[in-house]
Amino acid sequence: MSQNNIHTQFHRFVSPDEKAELLGQKGTVLWMYGLSGSGKSTIAAAVERTLHDLGRYVVILDGDNFRHGLNSDLGFSDKDREENVRRVAEVAKMFASQGAIVIVSVITPKKVFRSSARQIVGSGFQGIYIKASFETCAKRDPKGLYAKVESGEIKQFTGKDSGFEEPEFAELIVDTETTEVMESAAQVIELLSMAS
Ligand code: ADX
Repeated sequence: MSQNNIHTQFHRFVSPDEKAELLGQKGTVLWMYGLSGSGKSTIAAAVERTLHDLGRYVVILDGDNFRHGLNSDLGFSDKDREENVRRVAEVAKMFASQGAIVIVSVITPKKVFRSSARQIVGSGFQGIYIKASFETCAKRDPKGLYAKVESGEIKQFTGKDSGFEEPEFAELIVDTETTEVMESAAQVIELLSMAS
């Protein structure tokens, strides 16, 4: 196998500890998951802005953006979603090892996808469930997708004909039906300060 001829390089490069010292922060992955329209990107943007203004270096990895570029070959079957999550997790790990605070915003609908993301990233992974019911997300419908699902234009839609599994465990659950955006962002930032 060609993989036998791959020799990963770490020892010659500046270490994650040295980068953490330079940046004054520890590489972390805040993995936000939940239904489309639950508020992941909105909260990610609020957390990023707040941390940035505090002098932190933040990277956002957004599901839609990935699917526009690196993951444009993937659809919404379970197999493709699994591969989508795997690639995002590998990229998140790379950024975190370079000292970034990484905010991931990807539906990650199955427990097994979440646990494999956690495994790929390793230490520094924080799973954050951005919670809102299917009905609420359908009412918000910020991208007009739920209307298209209703008219049959979109298939394999998360929460409709493709499943979303509620977590049994999460480092943080943010209920966006009862929590305002800035309060949600504050909860995420508090989790980050407890983790680092
Ligand atoms: S995941 O299931 O593989 O984790 P991901 O977060 O990357 O999903 O992509 C979801 C985004 O793709 C949604 O925010 C939405 O804008 C868009 N989308 C298009 N079709 C679907 C679909 N069938 N199910 C869910 N999201 C979809």
